[in-house]
Amino acid sequence: MRRYTFQFLCLASFSILGFLACKHDPFLQPFDPNNPDPTTNTGVCNPDSVYFQNQILPILVSNCTESGCHNAQDHQEGIVLDSYQSLVSTVENATQNDWNENKLMRALLENDLDDRMPPPPKSALPPAQIDLLKIWLAQGAQNNACDENFGGCDVSTVKFSTFIMPLVQVKCQGCHSGNNPQGNLKLVTYSDIKTVASNGKLYASLTRTSNWMPNGGAKLDDCSLQKIQAWIGEGALEN
Ligand code: HEC
Repeated sequence: MRRYTFQFLCLASFSILGFLACKHDPFLQPFDPNNPDPTTNTGVCNPDSVYFQNQILPILVSNCTESGCHNAQDHQEGIVLDSYQSLVSTVENATQNDWNENKLMRALLENDLDDRMPPPPKSALPPAQIDLLKIWLAQGAQNNACDENFGGCDVSTVKFSTFIMPLVQVKCQGCHSGNNPQGNLKLVTYSDIKTVASNGKLYASLTRTSNWMPNGGAKLDDCSLQKIQAWIGEGALEN
């Protein structure tokens, strides 16, 4: 009886207060695009939406939070880009869909190399990543997330071209490319990645209990780790 009462109260407050009241109730788990917690978010990814946790945060972590830059310890210019909270609280107008007002977009799109982020010798963010940011802003710049492995984790068809390379481009190359790659390690070409896949460092770096890669970012989800392990197990092919 009590349970039903609780359920009813939850439902009632759901419509009023949104998900806050009943966030951890397993029988009330509709897809909530504002719930960034991957353990309670069960929503499938909508290909027309851009998700902060899945697509935007990895770009910021990879390109902006390396040592000396916008991480919690170094917080250059007071700016920290390691979470949604830090983004909105340290960057002026970070969620505004007016690129001239939005300090993040201004810095990324700046033509003057003295002011452009990331600063030289790093190159500007690739247009595909800028476009993701633009779409995310146009869609309301929410702290949203989706489950990329909705419906199960299929490790049988993991390919370098469609899974490994795109993941490394978004989550690793900001730090592991250019003239001065972090850890003195480039992860740009197939052969760069094949080398660390074969010597065990790739998987070990992703799964160690502290200082895992991506450095300063969230640990990769279990399914991604399983896919990487499967790809390495099949010989880390350039397929
Ligand atoms: C914010 C910067 C940053 C990002 C993003 C990043 N790395 Fe690193 N990486 C480092 C630094 C700094 C080191 C050297 C210190 C260390 O090993 O912790 C390093 C070292 C490594 C090493 C060598 C570890 C060893 O045992 O020698 C590997 C392999 C690696 N990274 C893989 C990755 C992969 C794969 C990704 C993407 C999923 C990634 N990194 C993302 C900064 C980064």
